[in-house]
Amino acid sequence: MRRLACPGSYDPVTNGHVEIIGRAAGLADGVVVLLGRNPGKATMFSLDERVAMLTESLAGLAAVSVATFDGLLVDYCRTQRITAIVKGVRGPADLEYEAPMAQMNATLSGIDTIFLLAREFRHVSSSLVKEVATYGGDVRSLVPPPVNATLVARLRSGVRGQ
Ligand code: PNS
Repeated sequence: MRRLACPGSYDPVTNGHVEIIGRAAGLADGVVVLLGRNPGKATMFSLDERVAMLTESLAGLAAVSVATFDGLLVDYCRTQRITAIVKGVRGPADLEYEAPMAQMNATLSGIDTIFLLAREFRHVSSSLVKEVATYGGDVRSLVPPPVNATLVARLRSGVRGQ
């Protein structure tokens, strides 16, 4: 059984993430989309909201599940028998950011990170989506419908953080 992990903050999941997760699913028997905590990032959506958006957005992808983890990513991967970690890269800046984490994870565990070069949505990030939506821009072509609905509801409520 080849099982891949697609870890991230997913605040919120975008169409770019969905592209990478779908392609990862084509390479493996199973994919677990892993929501981790990044202490360097304040999130707009709570963990439960992000899980709900991911679960709804990925409902059409067979063999893809959503899970959360605490602690080190590689500890989760070892206990859950994950074959490799998958990350999407949109360009050199993403690789700069991801390379030390991939190296550290490999040093800690021997688990490789596979980088998939984004084919579409290279201009799309969770932060840009939030910024555009916050100023009233239309992000329907950039995120799955459940994410657009959640974003619109959140912004209408006037609450900016979780
Ligand atoms: O989407 P992000 O914010 O780049 O996701 C980063 C995340 C959550 C995948 C990363 O910070 C992570 O793996 N955190 C868990 C703690 C850990 O293993 N840290 C060492 C990474 S080398």
